[in-house]
Amino acid sequence: MSSAFLTGWGTAVPDGVLTNADLEARVDTDDAWIVERTGIRERRVAGPDESTATLATTAAGNAIKQAGLTPEDIDLLIVATVTPEQPIPHTGAYVGERLGLRCGSFDMNAACAGFVYEMVVASGMLLAGYQHVLVVGAETLTRITDYEDRGTCILFGDGAGAAVLSRGAGDGGMLAWDLGCDGSAADILQLPAGGSRLPTTAQTVANRDHFLKMQGQEVFKRAVRAIVDSAALTLGRAHMLADAVDWFVPHQANTRIIERAASRLGIPRERVLVNIERYGNTSSASIPLALFEAVDAGQVHDGDVVLLSGFGAGMTWASAALRWGAP
Ligand code: ACO
Repeated sequence: MSSAFLTGWGTAVPDGVLTNADLEARVDTDDAWIVERTGIRERRVAGPDESTATLATTAAGNAIKQAGLTPEDIDLLIVATVTPEQPIPHTGAYVGERLGLRCGSFDMNAACAGFVYEMVVASGMLLAGYQHVLVVGAETLTRITDYEDRGTCILFGDGAGAAVLSRGAGDGGMLAWDLGCDGSAADILQLPAGGSRLPTTAQTVANRDHFLKMQGQEVFKRAVRAIVDSAALTLGRAHMLADAVDWFVPHQANTRIIERAASRLGIPRERVLVNIERYGNTSSASIPLALFEAVDAGQVHDGDVVLLSGFGAGMTWASAALRWGAP
């Protein structure tokens, strides 16, 4: 049977670190509150010479190398991001140029569900005939974070994760997936200005409308529901129960969201991959950063069932079950 296998992976994070103590100096907050309410201790911050495309290129280059491929082997590049290099052209143009690609590329905006969304699209393109698709989740969220808003500035960080998905034969690879979006909740997490509805003006800048705005509690409630429903549906489609999951990799938004969702799904804490403590919420980069850190640490073994589940602005959600290992 032909399936999509994850054959290469890579990550990139900036060296710059923003700790809870640093945030205490900027807004009315404290380390104990941030750790208790979110689980975050520090985040990475892109430096002046870094951007979404530079982080994406490093992660993607590592993934191509890890897969034992050259740029000529890649049939399609997808970059999932809510912090594109600039509005036009798409970020994939810069990433592809730096990697030496001439294949098709496009960006995808599915927020924190972006990496799983693009994995699902990549799988479809492999079944349609491509051999290798490169997917990247890359963000510089610190560039759209309002460091005067304590309700959001404690959460976000920068980073990138990339994977090569390859068509192969075998029982493993992508087993099942679920995608969704409830646009009735579009306004609870948004960056209002700079688009068609509210173009950039001196007023939008003065109003701080180019930064992320979030109704935290509402996002929290919907996030738990979205992860649980989508992950359960995906497991059902893979004809599996929660006890078959070796590694659950949820979007790293808040430790309490992760714990609540895992507990409702019946997945014990020791099988949940969490690294939010060191990176905060890196949107589309968070799932690959958590998964590939564990892979590189030797935690994930061939044959393991991995369940990925993300949710984000939109509100989007996406889950995928896969069996780890080469074709
Ligand atoms: N430090 C200290 N106190 C704070 C802080 C802070 N940084 N932020 C808020 N508070 C205060 C509030 O003002 C409030 O005080 P009040 O009771 O006097 O009014 C109190 O703490 C409780 O505020 P809540 O908003 O109810 O706090 P909550 O427990 O909900 O935690 C948080 C806030 C961490 C933002 C949480 O709601 C959350 O994680 N939500 C989900 C975020 C998320 O998953 N986002 C994903 C988006 S990713 C994407 O798509 C880009």
